Amino acid sequence: MSAYQNVFDLSMEDSETFWSEAATGIVWDKPWEKVLDDTNAPFYRWFTGGELNTCENAVDRHVKAGYGEQPAIIYDSPAAGEKRVYTYADLQQKTAQLAGALKACGITQGDRVIIYMSMVPEAVFAMLACARLGAVHSVVFGGFSAKELAVRIDDAKAKFMLSTSCGLEPGRIVDYKKILDEALDMATHKVDGCAILQRPQQPCALVSGRDVDWNEFIADIEPAACVPVAATAPLYILYTSGTTGQPKGIVRDNGGHAVALQWTMTNIYDVGPGEVYWAASDIGWVVGHSYIVYAPLFNRNTTVLYEGKPVGTPDAGAFWRVISEHNVVSMFTAPTALRAIKKEDPKGELVRDYDLSRLRAQFLAGERSDPDTIDWVQRHLQVPVVDHWWQTETGWAIAANPLGIEHFPTKPGAACKPMPGYDLQALDDEGKILAAGELGNLAVKLPLPPGTFPTIWGDAERMRDNYLTAYPGYYLSGDSGMIDEDGYVHVMSRIDDVINVAAHRLSTGQMEESLCRHPDVAEAAVFGVADDFKGELPLGLVVLNSTVQRDANQICNELIAGVREDIGAVAAFKLVAVVKRLPKTRSGKILRGTMRKIASGEDYVVPGTIDDPAILDEIAEVLRQLEYPKTAGNK
Ligand code: COA
Ligand code: AMP
Repeated sequence: MSAYQNVFDLSMEDSETFWSEAATGIVWDKPWEKVLDDTNAPFYRWFTGGELNTCENAVDRHVKAGYGEQPAIIYDSPAAGEKRVYTYADLQQKTAQLAGALKACGITQGDRVIIYMSMVPEAVFAMLACARLGAVHSVVFGGFSAKELAVRIDDAKAKFMLSTSCGLEPGRIVDYKKILDEALDMATHKVDGCAILQRPQQPCALVSGRDVDWNEFIADIEPAACVPVAATAPLYILYTSGTTGQPKGIVRDNGGHAVALQWTMTNIYDVGPGEVYWAASDIGWVVGHSYIVYAPLFNRNTTVLYEGKPVGTPDAGAFWRVISEHNVVSMFTAPTALRAIKKEDPKGELVRDYDLSRLRAQFLAGERSDPDTIDWVQRHLQVPVVDHWWQTETGWAIAANPLGIEHFPTKPGAACKPMPGYDLQALDDEGKILAAGELGNLAVKLPLPPGTFPTIWGDAERMRDNYLTAYPGYYLSGDSGMIDEDGYVHVMSRIDDVINVAAHRLSTGQMEESLCRHPDVAEAAVFGVADDFKGELPLGLVVLNSTVQRDANQICNELIAGVREDIGAVAAFKLVAVVKRLPKTRSGKILRGTMRKIASGEDYVVPGTIDDPAILDEIAEVLRQLEYPKTAGNK
C-alpha cells in the first residue's frame, strides 16, 4: 500500500491516535483531556482541556532551543525599496514588547484587536503579540473599503486597532489612515484606541485622545510573557465573503491550528526546520495567516514577507529574484500571479537570469489552476507544481499532493488527493455518494480535522445553516467537483454566489446589494465572467427605475464608484451595463448562471422554467456591446 494511503487510512480509522501523535510537535502548557470532543456534535472540538500558547510555539520555544540567531522573517519590499531580516531572538523581543504595550492599555485574553496594516514586519509582530496575550486578532485586508472595515469593527466588537498610515500599491499610495478614520466614524461600536505605524512614504495626522504613534506606544514598555490559553480558545477571526453583505467571521482556535499547521509543513510542503519558505500572498488572506506567519514559524522556517507584486515591481522577474536571493526551497502563490508573469514574459526568459537551483516545489491555490499555467511553470521552473485546494474555513489544504509523504504525478486541473482527516465525497443533491468521475457537491464527512473552523464568530447557527444543514453529518464546501478513478480531486466551480477574482474571494450578492442602493436602480444581477488573467471578473447588469431619464453611462460610472466605495478596490468591479429587464424563472428567480454562460461565450441551454426566453437575446446583445476582455471562452 502507498505511504499516503497508510497515513490517510490511519487518520480515518483512528483519528485520535493520528492527531495526538501530530500534537507531540507542539509545546503544551497543559495536556489535553480529549483529543476529539464530540459533546456538541455537529460542532466538534479538538484537544479540549489542553492549554498552550501559539506565540510560544511560533517564536519563544525556538529561541529557548538555541535558534535565536536564525532568521525568522525576511522582509523584502520592492514597494518600499527596503529589506530587513529579523532573527527569532529579534522576533521574540519585538513581539513581547508590542504585547507589553497592548497589555499596558488593558488588552487581555479574549479581547479582539483589529489589524489593518500593509505588508510590514510590524503586522506580523502584531498578530503574534495578540496571540502572546491570548487576545484575538482580526486582520483586515488593505484593499477593503471603510464600510467593510466598519462592519468588521462592529461584528468583532474590537477593543483596539493597530494600523499603518498607508499602504503601497503600484503607482499610488493607499491612505489607510483615512479609511481607518472613516471606518471608526461609521462603526457603532467604539474602540479604546489605535496605535499607528507611520510609514515614511505618507505619515498621517493622529487623532488626539484616540491615536498613539507606534513608537511611543512601545517605548519604555515591560515585555509581556506568553499566556497559556485553552486549546479551544479563539486565536483569530478572519472575515470572508458569504452570499450576503454581512461577511462571515471565520474563527480559528489555538490548539488544533498549531497541531495541523505544524504537521502540514513537513508532510505537505516537505520543508524542514531552518529552511526558507515563501508564500507570496497577503497577511489579509488565510494563505497569509497560515503560510506567511503561523505554519513556517511553528516549523522554525525562515519566512519571506514580500511587499510587492509579481509584475511591475520592477518586472516579471521579481519572484525569481526573491527565490534566488533568499534561497527559497518551496514557494506558494496563486495561479493568477503566475498568469501575470507569463503574460509579460511568455518565454520565461527572466527565469534564466536567476539561480533557482534550491527551489524544490511550487504550490498553487486560491483558484483552480489552469493547465496552461501549470505547464508553463513546470517547463520553466523544472520543479513539481502542486495545485492544492483549500478555503478560509479550513485554514489548510483539503486536497493536495503531500510531497513529504508521497509525490504523486501532477494531473493539470486537479488538486490531487484528500489530505488526512478529510473524508471527502462528491454528493448528489439528495446526499448520495457519487461514483468516481461523477460531478457533484464536494462535502467532507464530519468531523473536520484540527485547524479547521469551529464556528462563525458570534453566530454558531450561521455555521450550521451555511455548512452543516444541506447534508446532515457533512460539511458542505461550497465547491462543486468530482473525485476521479485515481482518487484525484477536481474542483470545478462554486455552487453559491461567491466568485474568485485574482484569487480573491468575493460575494456577488454583496455587489448586487451595493448596486441596488443607487436611487436609479430597480434591480441588479452580478455574476462572474471568465477572464484569462484574473480567472473571473464581476459583471453587473442593472434595470433602471422606469422614471429615470439620466444618461446611462453616467449612472454606470456612479455604480462602479459605488461598489468601490462600499466594498473596496479589491472588488475590481468595472463592468456594468443597463438592460431593460433581467431573465427570470416563472417563480421570479434571476437566471444568473445562464447570463454568466452567455457572457463567457459558453454553450447554454435555455432553462425550461424561463419566463420569457426573448430576454436572453436582449442580454446577449447588450453584452456584445459591452467592452470586456473577450478571451478564448467569451468572444
Ligand atoms: N491594499 C490596498 N489596495 C489593494 C491591495 C492592498 N493590499 N491589494 C490590491 N489592492 C487594489 C489594487 O491596487 C487594485 O486597485 P485599482 O483598481 O486601483 O488598480 C485593486 O485592489 C484590485 O487588485 P487586484 O485584483 O489584486 O489586481 P492587481 O492588478 O493589483 O494585482 C495580481 C493582480 C494577480 C498581481 C494580484 O491580485 C495577486 O497577487 N493576487 C494573488 C492573490 C493572493 O495571493 N490570494 C491568496 C491566495 S494564494
Ligand atoms: P478563500 O476562502 O478565499 O481561500 O477561497 C476559497 C475558495 O477558492 C474555494 O472554495 C474555491 O472555490 C477556491 N479555490 C481555492 N483553491 C482552489 C484550487 N486549488 N482549485 C480550485 N478552486 C480553489
